[in-house]
Amino acid sequence: MAEAQAKMALGDKNLELPVLSGTVGPDVIDIRKLYGQTGAFTYDPGFTSTASCESGLTYIDGDQGILLHRGYPIDQLAEQSSFMEVAYLLLNGELPTKAELEKFDSTITRHTMLHEQLATFYRGFRRDAHPMAIMCGVVGALSAFYHDSTDITDPHQRMVASHRLIAKMPTIAAMAYKYSVGQPFLYPDNSLSYTGNFLRMTFGVPAEDYVVDPVVEDAMDKIFILHADHEQNASTSTVRLAGSSGANPFACIAAGIACLWGPAHGGANEAALNMLREIGTPDRIPEYIARAKNKDDPFRLMGFGHRVYKNYDPRAKVMQKTANEVLDKLGVTDPIFDVARELEQIALRDDYFVSKKLYPNVDFYSGVILSAIGFPTTMFTVLFALARTTGWVAQWNEMISDPDQKIGRPRQLYTGPAQRDYVPLGKR
Ligand code: CMC
Repeated sequence: MAEAQAKMALGDKNLELPVLSGTVGPDVIDIRKLYGQTGAFTYDPGFTSTASCESGLTYIDGDQGILLHRGYPIDQLAEQSSFMEVAYLLLNGELPTKAELEKFDSTITRHTMLHEQLATFYRGFRRDAHPMAIMCGVVGALSAFYHDSTDITDPHQRMVASHRLIAKMPTIAAMAYKYSVGQPFLYPDNSLSYTGNFLRMTFGVPAEDYVVDPVVEDAMDKIFILHADHEQNASTSTVRLAGSSGANPFACIAAGIACLWGPAHGGANEAALNMLREIGTPDRIPEYIARAKNKDDPFRLMGFGHRVYKNYDPRAKVMQKTANEVLDKLGVTDPIFDVARELEQIALRDDYFVSKKLYPNVDFYSGVILSAIGFPTTMFTVLFALARTTGWVAQWNEMISDPDQKIGRPRQLYTGPAQRDYVPLGKR
């Protein structure tokens, strides 16, 4: 990292702060000594200008609409790679050789079963529980089961925990679905691919053979790739913050799942499809565009806008193409897709959206595909969590092995009352 200096004056204090450069992207001003030298903190709610860590995993250029994993563009990975390969890449830093990929695939496959007692744990949930609520609970509960992979100072145990999490998420997600529809859980089938196995555990039943549709398998695998990692987003930062105290890895991922659930983050895919269904027909679009622009109406166009992308989300481009292919190949005609396409065109021409640089994000089209495959909307965010687990564990591993790692402990601008004396109850 080349070092320059940033000059800063605060009152009568003059300060020189190191400027650090990454491989690509904006420089960062290293303010670690700022408080010690000036007694002042920086103020940046929502971390709009703050780099919370150093990372070599994912790079985003929001103005250009670029997303790279370990240097590889997301569209190339989505078109040419597989989710298992991307998971290996994120975790290990390089694309695997054929032999490395086979070994990784086999390791993941052999970790897909859950401890049998976890099946009992599911039965404690109400049948109408949101599957994300079940995911938070069950993934958190893994921390009570796999004690041999929780010494975070041991790189081998960290990798075992990571493999377990990647491997068990499809089983956990499928079981959450099965529980909600009252069907028996299916055990994993080691002869199938990661994605094929997930589809069978979700849509298969013990009474008959399930044949994986290659069109659906391919689309699902692409969706997983597109959601695998996304730099220091809210849920990843949550996983890092939870992990920074040395917490159990499974509990840290449960924290990430909780954060992902929100409609401003992973919950947007569910919200986007619900919105498209509510709009229903293209003639009602202007009414919703007007609502999104109205400052007094909390309504937002779900699946539009992004903290980082001020240009088309590169994932949305692949997602739109995949939606076209899936609907075409499955012969599904869904009026929701027409509403989505028309809404996108109208919004992209509208001054409000243009001036605020609001473009479709990854969630805008993913719901259309998932709905065509047969997933209920409540499962959409679960699929996001399943895929993002690869990014979470890779980021968590990177953080634990970072020599600069410290417990995450932000400061604040305090605006509450200054010190005052306690008034006894009878005198208030
Ligand atoms: N519809 C209408 N107006 C919007 C929208 C939208 N979807 N998104 C942002 N704006 C407006 C917002 O009202 C604000 O206007 P003003 O400057 O007049 O106050 C301006 O654009 C900037 O918005 P912001 O909320 O300050 O931007 P942010 O970076 O804090 O929020 C966001 C980013 C993704 C939370 C937001 O765009 C949003 O709520 N979008 C809808 C939810 C969504 O699709 N989320 C999925 C994100 S991608 C998947 C993931 O990574 O989880």
